[in-house]
Amino acid sequence: MRTTASYIRITLFTIISAIFLMYVTSAEAPLQSLSQVWYWVILGTVILFMMAIEVCVAALQRVLYLSLDLEAQKRFDEKMALEKANQFKWFKETYKKLLGSKPIEEEHEIILDHNYDGILELDNKLPPWWLYGFYATILFGVIYLARFHVFGDYTQSEEYDTEVAIAKAEIEEWKKTAKDLVDVNTVTLLTEASDINAGKIIFNERCVACHKADGGGGIGPNLTDEYWILGGGIKNVFRTISEGGRDGKGMVPWKTELKPSEMAQVASYILGFQGTIPAEPKAAEGDIWIDPDASIEEEPVEQEAEIEATETTEEVLINADN
Ligand code: HEC
Repeated sequence: MRTTASYIRITLFTIISAIFLMYVTSAEAPLQSLSQVWYWVILGTVILFMMAIEVCVAALQRVLYLSLDLEAQKRFDEKMALEKANQFKWFKETYKKLLGSKPIEEEHEIILDHNYDGILELDNKLPPWWLYGFYATILFGVIYLARFHVFGDYTQSEEYDTEVAIAKAEIEEWKKTAKDLVDVNTVTLLTEASDINAGKIIFNERCVACHKADGGGGIGPNLTDEYWILGGGIKNVFRTISEGGRDGKGMVPWKTELKPSEMAQVASYILGFQGTIPAEPKAAEGDIWIDPDASIEEEPVEQEAEIEATETTEEVLINADN
């Protein structure tokens, strides 16, 4: 029996299952790693199952119906016909009310008394759905006017600013949980004690064998001096840790064993060795590394200028003495 009700049941069931599936496959839910294909396979199976149930129930009903005697079948038919007539009564009535149109039988009440070559005009009332919608817009307009133009609640640009601020805060929040998005281009020197400590633990576990606990160096180079073979600064150090050193030197790429966030932590920890004095420092290797991004304060130049200035004053003084 393909009835409207059965279609509605299947549609509703499909929607509910889809929402349920979406829920269990969302982030942090048990099935979050379920692939898109499986999602549709499961949903499809569920729908087929639901249809099968509907078909079975309908068949069963049919069998029962045929097993009734004629008298009972007639009574059943009558009952069904009545039910069908009353089906969705509330919706039908509400829909009619919202349209507010007169039934054809009553149209003579609202016909206007002019006749243009047989064309007549009805004086229908405005449909209630439209009329109340219109009132609602008026109400909205009044409240809006009072709120924003009379009492001067926030302006559009303020609204924009708050939304941007909220979005920025959300991005920051998100970045905290997405630390592993860092790569060699975006990595920055971490300064939080928790990160440095995490870096220290990694260093002591995996790097001390070649670099020594104080960074003095052994098989690997000294990490405390300003000389770097592969470049200093957080980005180069991160890259060295991630990609490894020159072939055959012994510094392997760590990207397969450490997460990006961990490499950033250990890189930040290593850079804390700069300027410390290790127990047995290995001789410097590589070149002095100057950060190209460092702001051009170039103190030496200023000092030189100062010295020059003092010299000139001195000279002037000397000249004056003479
Ligand atoms: C098996 C020994 C070994 C281990 C373990 C090791 N390294 Fe190295 N490391 C080296 C060697 C050798 C070099 C020099 C590579 C070159 O010359 O190309 C090096 C170079 C480096 C450099 C670059 C130094 C410069 O002067 O440019 C950094 C930074 C570094 N290692 C960090 C680490 C970190 C962090 C770990 C632990 C996750 C680690 N290393 C583990 C042997 C090691």
